[in-house]
Amino acid sequence: MGEDIFSGKTIALGISGGIAAYKAVDLASKLAQRGAIVKTIMTEHATKFVSPLTFQSVTGQPVLTDLFAADSQGKISHVALSEEADLVVVAPATANIIAKAAHGLADDALSTTLVAARSAIVMVPAMNNYMWSNKATQYNLEILTSRDIKVMQPEVGRLACGEGNAVGRFPDTASIVSFLEDILRKSHDLAGKTIMITAGGTREPIDPVRFIGNRSSGKMGYAIAEAARARGAKVILVSGPTCLNPPLGAHTIYVETAQQMYDAVMENLYQVDAVVMTAAVADFRPSSSGIEKIKKERMPKSIELELNPDILQAVSKKKGNKLVVGFAAESENIIENATKKIKKKDIDLIVANDIASPGVGFGSDLNLAVLINKKGPVGDLITYKKTELAEKILDWVAAHIAVSSISS
Ligand code: C5P
Repeated sequence: MGEDIFSGKTIALGISGGIAAYKAVDLASKLAQRGAIVKTIMTEHATKFVSPLTFQSVTGQPVLTDLFAADSQGKISHVALSEEADLVVVAPATANIIAKAAHGLADDALSTTLVAARSAIVMVPAMNNYMWSNKATQYNLEILTSRDIKVMQPEVGRLACGEGNAVGRFPDTASIVSFLEDILRKSHDLAGKTIMITAGGTREPIDPVRFIGNRSSGKMGYAIAEAARARGAKVILVSGPTCLNPPLGAHTIYVETAQQMYDAVMENLYQVDAVVMTAAVADFRPSSSGIEKIKKERMPKSIELELNPDILQAVSKKKGNKLVVGFAAESENIIENATKKIKKKDIDLIVANDIASPGVGFGSDLNLAVLINKKGPVGDLITYKKTELAEKILDWVAAHIAVSSISS
């Protein structure tokens, strides 16, 4: 058995003022027993439920309650803690700290740590069921999840306020620990690996102002790029024109045409361990595009086309030990067609997505998709948020890259 994933990891454990604060003592203790360095930050209200000394005793670490406290090196403690934490966990998270985090308020040690955090953040809400279902709370939780803050769902059961069988209970320690374990594992399972991702559509010029394009938004590829960064990979994103902000920390190379995308991909191929090709590359382009705008009066009756290079196929020919993942946009016989494509293109994984169903695919935040490897489908054809599908693809990449990668 390998080393415990918690061993030597610094966990900033935020305690906000709910009765479940007493249960967080057990959480702090279990994390410390697994080898984590647990540094507790308590709100003023939390200290009314449990004394800081209790957390200090079970973790063997100082407890932060004062926004302006300095650590032994004279650094402001909440800033130092945001810097060194491998994970920030707020458990229990009250409606108040959820609202503050959603809006970036920083008026005490815990909320300020959240604003300054560099690692993944996890919220474990626990509150009265009416506070939980309040529209403001739900809206704030949506804001947090859209920023990739992980929120653990509270359980249904008897609440401390007397409500029976209602949603809002703090989950048991073992469930929280395994939730955190999963996040920690994913926060570095691609460390040391380089992944190249193609994203968006291409534009094939007819003249200097007009082009043949497609409806790709780039959302799928950007979601994979962001998720791969968060999991520790070095990311090269080769992107066609999109309206999206470049993912933080990724090396983004902007291209317009399929030929430019081909050149950028081939130029960088030598340095990557895996390639994920989500781009909707135009299969063909106008054979010629003049340097002058075509005048209305000189409208051509037809546009002659020629084939673009198939980037995925070219990559697969030079793949060596690299993992190659392609996408297949299908409108019928999805699994059958995608299975043929994985063989024809000789790649490791194909993500087949249904572009015929309404509300999913191009431009949407959702994708109806199934992962297929050389042996057949891995899982079912289901509707994913593109961010979830990105994680699912990277789970597969992380599980297979170690044995196939050039750098392993
Ligand atoms: O053959 P088809 O276009 O259906 O294959 C789709 C997959 O191939 C996608 O992963 C897409 O990014 C990639 N592709 C490519 N170059 C092309 C056409 C498609 O890399 N010219």
